[in-house]
Amino acid sequence: MDFLEAKQRVEKLRAELEKHNYHYYVLDSPLISDAQYDSLMRELIAIEEQYPQLLTPDSPSQRVGGKPLEVFENYRHRKPLLSLGNAFGAGDLQDFHRRVTSLVGKQVEYVVETKIDGLSIALIYENGILVRGATRGDGETGEDVTSNLKTIPAVPLRLTKKLPRLEVRGEAYMPKAAFARLNQEREENGEPLFANPRNAAAGSIRQLDPKITASRSLSAFIYEITYIEGQEISTHWDALQYLRELGFPVDRNHKLCTTIEEVIAYCQEWTTKRSELPFEIDGMVVKVNNFAQQEELGSTAKSPRWAIAYKFPAEQAVTTVEDIIVRVGRTGVLTPTAVLTPVKVAGSTVSRATLHNEDIIREKDIRIGDTVVIQKAGDVIPEVVEVLKDKRTGSEREFNLPKTCPECGSAVVRLENEAAARCTGGLACPAQIREGIIHFVSRDAMNIEGLGPKVVEQLLNAGLIKDAGDLYYLEFKDLVKLERMGEQSAANLLRAIEESKQRGLGQLVFALGIRHVGARAGKILAEHFGSLSALSQASLDELLAVPDVGPKVAESIRTFFAEPVNQQVIEKLRRAGVKMEVERKAMGQGVLQGKLFVLTGTLETLTRKEAEKLIEKHGGKTTSSVSKNTDYVVVGKDPGSKYEKALKLGITILGEAELLALIGEKNQG
Ligand code: IVH
Repeated sequence: MDFLEAKQRVEKLRAELEKHNYHYYVLDSPLISDAQYDSLMRELIAIEEQYPQLLTPDSPSQRVGGKPLEVFENYRHRKPLLSLGNAFGAGDLQDFHRRVTSLVGKQVEYVVETKIDGLSIALIYENGILVRGATRGDGETGEDVTSNLKTIPAVPLRLTKKLPRLEVRGEAYMPKAAFARLNQEREENGEPLFANPRNAAAGSIRQLDPKITASRSLSAFIYEITYIEGQEISTHWDALQYLRELGFPVDRNHKLCTTIEEVIAYCQEWTTKRSELPFEIDGMVVKVNNFAQQEELGSTAKSPRWAIAYKFPAEQAVTTVEDIIVRVGRTGVLTPTAVLTPVKVAGSTVSRATLHNEDIIREKDIRIGDTVVIQKAGDVIPEVVEVLKDKRTGSEREFNLPKTCPECGSAVVRLENEAAARCTGGLACPAQIREGIIHFVSRDAMNIEGLGPKVVEQLLNAGLIKDAGDLYYLEFKDLVKLERMGEQSAANLLRAIEESKQRGLGQLVFALGIRHVGARAGKILAEHFGSLSALSQASLDELLAVPDVGPKVAESIRTFFAEPVNQQVIEKLRRAGVKMEVERKAMGQGVLQGKLFVLTGTLETLTRKEAEKLIEKHGGKTTSSVSKNTDYVVVGKDPGSKYEKALKLGITILGEAELLALIGEKNQG
């Protein structure tokens, strides 16, 4: 196949694949089998490999192509993405309607649609091509998660019309089935479970490695056009139809209502019907249909006056408290937890409810054996709302928090003005050690995949580790002896541990588990001090000079580093080669440090000079001839003989888009 034929075939394949994607994910009615789809995709990838200059960022092959990022860049929205006010019943909807009609008159139509329980996203298209995807963030600034959103098959990379510019807003979500699968898998691996599909979706999109996002079976719905050039639209109803025409997934359960009674009836209808949907919704959204009226109504600082969220009531269920157990946390806090007769609430089976602390148990008078009403409101951990006292038989038992720690036997104390009771065992308490290690390996800390609570416990029980530092000295021969640990998982685990050495100082500081130092503080401290040794030697005054560090935090940092046991752990980490300085990039060097590049052919958006500058800015070097020392050859249109030489030598070949992805730069403007 010559270049021209390849070009034509690639275009044909892309159009085909996009069409099938649309039928599968948007219309929900596939035209071909998965195997046929895969075979088209393989053909496309093969041609693109042969002719990298044909690669474009909107190619369907690029959905999972992105390289892991180091951090997300911020993305400032053109206009703040507002939130919605809430209505908790028919009365609130009537009030909303009165406010609307008092401002725009009696003639109002509403569109009522599902309120998808996911993560709010914004997508930007230029000339019909997806160029950027971001989270909502605080409404003004979100995070640029383009590579991750590209992995969601329902998100079109290319629209059916070449509008000069289009910005839309929607929700990325995890379907119920995918959520159940993911949690089951995590449970089997002993990893912490996601509380609900929304957290799972948010967690999956905030992954620096797009491959993880791609593995999470996410989907999306789009429900607003926030900016458009090249098309006039005058109602929300038409906007939804138009979005669909452009190739966007739009939830089909929206309805045009001409009276508020109709709106209320439709909202109430979904209170029960929601369980039939394959995705979670936490309410309905009611929007004034006419854009001219929307404009007239305007917005407050937080939310538009032309829309409101009707929230479904929290779901409740009745069950019994079979037992009350006590968990000892990382900082020694004892948390009483009710063990319940399993019961279905809000789509999931609940068998535990947190009782928070002793005072709450007294206040609600919760006893072992009681019949209770429990509640699960969307995201939160199930709670006991009330005890059905008339169901008592007299055999219920009152619960008292133990006077000594159930795990180490040390005294339990309750400090004045604190609701929490604490074990005084410190690092002599196995629970505190265990929880500390679980925290150390958790996602926002050292993020060691495959090292969940169950494996941590196994390692402790087998005497293979005594603290987090020991993780870095584990050996394959010991790991494979553990129950349910095959050779493959042992190798994966060792690799994940090795990789975690590069997490960077911010995550390490958080991982150490210094009281009052959360993930954000970890990052701030890392940036301020630049190295762990500088932080550990900082005086109280130096600590207090850091923005956001108050006396409580400063004191706690000093206490932590003064403790010989902690110093020992840090020493183990240091000897193992865990990175204890701020990322090299932030210190003025780059992700391409020491890499040798050769450029050939005409790039799409960058000139040769610009590309060279960019590579150098990130620490790489460029030369003019390809040799075996070359790390990458960047190939544009009509490449010269350098390209062939690179192929012969087996050197990694990049297109412009891949180069930009590698260094996390944007090719916009
Ligand atoms: S409209 C200015 N429509 O709910 C318009 N939001 O509580 C604001 N959401 O942040 C958004 N489904 O993430 C709208 N059909 C829908 C929605 C929806 C889910 C989310 C969205 C928003 C939150 C507000």
